[in-house]
Amino acid sequence: MSNLEMVPKGLDGVVVDKTELSRVDGTNGVLVYRGYNIDEVAQCSFEEICYLFLYGDLPNIEQLKKIDKRLKAERSLPKAVWDFVANAPKNEHPMAVLRTAVSMLSGYMLNVDDLSSDVLLRHAIALTSKVSTISAAISRARQGLFAVEPSFDLSHAANYLYMSTGEIPQDVVAKTLDMALVLHADHGFNASTFTARVVTSSLSDMVSAVTAAIGSLKGPLHGGANTAVMEMLIEIGSLENVENWVNQTLQQKRKIMGFGHRVYKTIDPRAKHLKRMSKEWGERAGNVKWFLMSEKIEDMMQSFKHLNANVDFYSASTYYAMGIEPEMFTAIFAVARTIGWTSHIIEQLVDNRIMRPEAAYAGPENKMFVPIEKRS
Ligand SMILES: CC(C)(COP(=O)(O)OP(=O)(O)OC[C@H]1O[C@@H](n2cnc3c(N)ncnc32)[C@H](O)[C@@H]1OP(=O)(O)O)[C@@H](O)C(=O)NCCC(=O)NCCS
Repeated sequence: MSNLEMVPKGLDGVVVDKTELSRVDGTNGVLVYRGYNIDEVAQCSFEEICYLFLYGDLPNIEQLKKIDKRLKAERSLPKAVWDFVANAPKNEHPMAVLRTAVSMLSGYMLNVDDLSSDVLLRHAIALTSKVSTISAAISRARQGLFAVEPSFDLSHAANYLYMSTGEIPQDVVAKTLDMALVLHADHGFNASTFTARVVTSSLSDMVSAVTAAIGSLKGPLHGGANTAVMEMLIEIGSLENVENWVNQTLQQKRKIMGFGHRVYKTIDPRAKHLKRMSKEWGERAGNVKWFLMSEKIEDMMQSFKHLNANVDFYSASTYYAMGIEPEMFTAIFAVARTIGWTSHIIEQLVDNRIMRPEAAYAGPENKMFVPIEKRS
């Protein structure tokens, strides 16, 4: 086999480094956060999961109070960032606004280039909090509404909803978002996390790495798939149309968003929780149409392509039933994943070596150099 034929496109199957943060077992459909099965920690609060990733184990009550206080204390934004979000072009993608706004934060963070562990921890907590505030402010600005200042009492999830809607959410709504954030918090060396680790490996700062990760998450093959799923459901329009639509799309060899995964060869363990949430939310909203359509697409994809729903598939209909605008879905993914990114950045720096893979050159060789005046 030539060097070129051996190239693992998309780094398929390549083990890049070790991690103690999460384990993705694609054969058995298992996801583990620092030793805890996702099915068990799904009932934890997002704040508990932040503590788990940053400090290595689940917190006791005192430890939880401390991290909760630190997260709440970091919710505010510099005025320039509020202003930027409020004045961003209304047609700009929320993830593009989020990316620029997060990048702006570095000018307002103390010792942004200091990579010592205390400072990194402070920045991880600050970014986890502020990505949520920025994301909610983007949602308000898109509706032409004034931003809502963060509450310093509500949980991370409840505060996001409060800043997005201007109203304190019912417990059941906040709890649903809380669980969705937990389910999206980390997932091995996915594209955006790997991006964050690559940027970090050159000893760049945490804000640069998170900004780059947001750019990666935006794409429809990664976090952008949740918005694409809802757009697809809206385009299909009704349960009766599903069969034709799926058949046609597969005949045209087009991908159906929310299905397939590089690592999972069986059900994505996060998808089964989100499926339950999608059903419950459809029933609560008095409209199970999106759930039933999703279930039918899932059955067809399973029968015809042996492909399973991934995390983005049922999160779409869940968020939509909760009244969240589809364009904001990926930014909510970023609200959850910032804790994963920042924890990976910290881990990368504990035993860093610059990421510098090689390329199999496939271009021409031995071309004759011609001076510019003689080139045709
Ligand atoms: C997740 C994903 C990017 C993984 O990519 P990958 O490991 O590189 O897999 P590939 O894109 O090479 O797909 C492998 C095969 O399955 C098919 N396939 C994969 N996902 C598919 C989908 N969602 N719909 C239809 N076919 C799909 C591909 O067409 C390909 O078929 P082929 O071998 O006949 O050409 C891919 O499954 C995908 O694009 N899914 C839709 C986007 C999505 O939901 N992303 C969120 C991931 S959490």
